[in-house]
Amino acid sequence: MADQTALKKLAGYRAAEFVEDGMVVGIGSGSTIAFVVEALGKRVAEEGLQIKGIPTSDKTRRTAAKLGIPMHNVDDVDHIDLTIDGADQIDENFAAIKGGGAALLWEKIVAVNSRRNIWVVDDTKLAPQLTHYLPVEVIPYGADQLFKRLKYAGYQPTWRLDQNGNPVRTDSANYLIDLHFTKMPDPFKLGRELTSMVGVVEHGLFLNIVDQVVVGRADETIAVFD
Ligand code: A5P
Repeated sequence: MADQTALKKLAGYRAAEFVEDGMVVGIGSGSTIAFVVEALGKRVAEEGLQIKGIPTSDKTRRTAAKLGIPMHNVDDVDHIDLTIDGADQIDENFAAIKGGGAALLWEKIVAVNSRRNIWVVDDTKLAPQLTHYLPVEVIPYGADQLFKRLKYAGYQPTWRLDQNGNPVRTDSANYLIDLHFTKMPDPFKLGRELTSMVGVVEHGLFLNIVDQVVVGRADETIAVFD
């Protein structure tokens, strides 16, 4: 049986095959997407694949550029043909939680501006219902007050901290609060509630976004769900 990293690589390389010459491609973030970037870099070098990449994080921008993928800003292109991204967990309705890697805001901006979205995961990320913690990106000003409101609402918030115990800063210099649920409420209702809270910039629920999911399975086969 393949380990999780091998499955990420298998699925990542398969997902990179969906990219066609001339496309503007949103490129996600995280350890699975690192393999998509690697595969695209190879295609650029070996096949002469011509694409414009739109990053969902500064890290992706740097890694992709190093591998020879021309990177552009999201506002410099007319449209994005396809975005390939990872996910922390996907439920049976193809709702997902993202942001474990702190990139949820840019990921969502790129996703909603894409004509097509593909997520690529190994099969440990699939679940009947969402149980993963939910990242929420918040403005630093007044963040302690917002944290208290989230606690009062029963959402068991925790600060996302770095190894030195300092708040993680996103690429937009915001903080992250992770919410922990014993049982995830209705994601649509929860998403609306979080969006309406002053100080919340974005949450990691990605609903009605994905078109295809590429899954690396434990038996080393790939499944593509439309
Ligand atoms: C980044 O903020 C996330 O949304 C990632 O897409 C997600 O955490 C998946 O990352 P891995 O591929 O590293 O598990």
